[in-house]
Amino acid sequence: MSARIDISPDPAALAARVAQWIADLAGHSGARFSVCLSGGSTPKRLYQLLAGAPWRDLLPWQRIHWFWGDERFVPWDHPDSNYGMAHEAMLARAPVPAANIHGIECKGSPADAARAYENALRAYYGADTLDPARPLFDVMLLGLGPDGHTASLFPGKPALEERRRWVTEVPEPGLSPHVPRVTLTYPALESCRSAAFLVAGADKQAALRGALGGNAELPSARVRPVGELIWFVDRAARGEE
Ligand code: 6PG
Repeated sequence: MSARIDISPDPAALAARVAQWIADLAGHSGARFSVCLSGGSTPKRLYQLLAGAPWRDLLPWQRIHWFWGDERFVPWDHPDSNYGMAHEAMLARAPVPAANIHGIECKGSPADAARAYENALRAYYGADTLDPARPLFDVMLLGLGPDGHTASLFPGKPALEERRRWVTEVPEPGLSPHVPRVTLTYPALESCRSAAFLVAGADKQAALRGALGGNAELPSARVRPVGELIWFVDRAARGEE
């Protein structure tokens, strides 16, 4: 399926647009709804919006399950934790049942944490094999790093080639913060009805151009969701400022 590009004037408008997009998708779904969150600064604004008016009253919180596409291997209360960021910005401020929050637990080694999260995803999904006709996630949120990485799939790293595991460890990301990561692999990231990249800021221009141009050295350019793919970008990232 081909990708669509949705341009917003600035990061605030971008966050509001994605909030409305998620609210529409979740509102029109009948059963449990799963959202896979990304880390980074761009989505933080989105998470804050979802927990406030008007979206707080629009989202069917009881039916939404929250997952993470990647995690930095630090405790959840560490400032670099993706879980911690989403929790503080949204999950702690909204009526989210605790059982609907599926964070990546940084216990034991990164490899242990990856295995445990893979088991958690399989249990939620109810099977050990991903069926393209029945995606794991309804919404997959993705970020774009200046080096073209997405989730914790960094250029040139072995995690890019992983097709069997759903989750894997990344011992050294090659980018700050220099802590090991745990990341969903392509097969898991791609098992979604809708994937959205959120890209804001002029420092993302080159990476965005490369990703949209299909530069296969950029991990973000290689994401092929089974469902739709939308690039929510702001004008600065698009080079229109
Ligand atoms: C992480 C992220 C990562 C992020 C991009 C973009 O844990 O670092 O999940 O993939 O989405 O680096 O981040 P910004 O929005 O901060 O630019």
